[in-house]
Amino acid sequence: MSKSILITGGAGFIGCHVVRLFVTKYSEYKIVNLDALTYAGNLENLKEVENAPNYNFEKVDIQDADALDLIFAKHQISDVIHLAAESHVDRSISDPMAFVKTNVFGTVNLLNAAKKAWVGELDQHLFYHVSTDEVYGSLHDGGFFLETTAYDPQSPYSASKAASDHFVRAYANTYKMKTVVSNCSNNYGPNHFPEKLIPLCINNIKNSKPLPVYGKGENVRDWLFVKDHARAIDTVFHRGKPGETYNIGGFNEWKNIDIVRLLCQKMDQKLGREAGSSEKLITFVQDRAGHDLRYAIDATKIQKELGWDPSLQFEEGIELTIDWYLANEEWLEHVTSGAYQQYYKELYEN
Ligand code: NAD
Ligand code: TYD
Repeated sequence: MSKSILITGGAGFIGCHVVRLFVTKYSEYKIVNLDALTYAGNLENLKEVENAPNYNFEKVDIQDADALDLIFAKHQISDVIHLAAESHVDRSISDPMAFVKTNVFGTVNLLNAAKKAWVGELDQHLFYHVSTDEVYGSLHDGGFFLETTAYDPQSPYSASKAASDHFVRAYANTYKMKTVVSNCSNNYGPNHFPEKLIPLCINNIKNSKPLPVYGKGENVRDWLFVKDHARAIDTVFHRGKPGETYNIGGFNEWKNIDIVRLLCQKMDQKLGREAGSSEKLITFVQDRAGHDLRYAIDATKIQKELGWDPSLQFEEGIELTIDWYLANEEWLEHVTSGAYQQYYKELYEN
């Protein structure tokens, strides 16, 4: 096979879309999905590719350096696409160290494993690090995040992602490792764990439960359909220039409260409920500590230099997303049972 690509975090939300895209589009590549299967990882996300001849799964924690060395040797890994991370800001506020362990320590472990496996030929292999726009901090006075915007992370999550980005660039500079980094805005779509705003609201509207909106709901995020992010990762992996950074975004800014209202309207229609009934579920709750006001990405560089564009309009993507959740009740039940119930209780009922 022409490449043997290690994709970390492939059982998570974005990772499963990337794995599915690569396994089906590139039958000539061996794809190795490495994932520790934390609460956020779910092999049900990969049913459609689990029997593909070019797909492999390894249950490994990136905190385990020895295990990573074995995986690089066993599969003769030629390239890495690194998505494994602790990804939820609220969890990072209650347990920052978990984020340091996976996002910082785990990323450095992975860099070391790659450096060791590729010694003498570092220029022939790519280490692609998938990051977030949250490393740039919060926009208060208009404007957009550019690739040159100074890092200013404000939450334990974004601080841990910023640290991991810095380590990747430090390995490129110090050891001449071939690396590329992309920083993407908020994703939405199928397989999104229902602790995040959009799937949480879809799930709660369905079950007629309160919709917790932090503060006044004025915070702004730029939303991108997850399959468009997976397409962007494919583009950057194949056409990105080594050493470069690419911002990825949807040119699609929304206030949280407007998204929640949109979800209520769409779901009232789909569930045959009286117009306006789900909006009554909106409940303003205590704001998130240190809540970033606005994220907005300028994705002109990836558009102009690599020819990538978002393919879906937000209204279309939201329809697809709601339909997916309504058609996949079993998936939702599986991921929201047990530990999730306890997490939800602690976060919203205290
Ligand atoms: P997710 O939380 O849905 O999935 C993370 C995956 O990583 C899970 O499958 C989990 O089991 C795995 N994982 C966690 N810790 C691990 C460890 N120690 N070892 C091995 N595997 C481990 O996250 P996501 O939303 O799919 O995000 C994927 C990546 O994209 C992250 O790096 C995140 O920072 C980045 N990102 C996410 C968004 C977003 O909106 N979700 C936006 C921009 C960037
Ligand atoms: P989230 O999906 O957690 O993504 P991020 O914090 O990484 O942007 O949250 C998106 C926005 O929605 C963010 O401004 C916080 C807000 N939010 C709520 O208002 N209520 C909720 O229950 C959640 C989970 C988020």
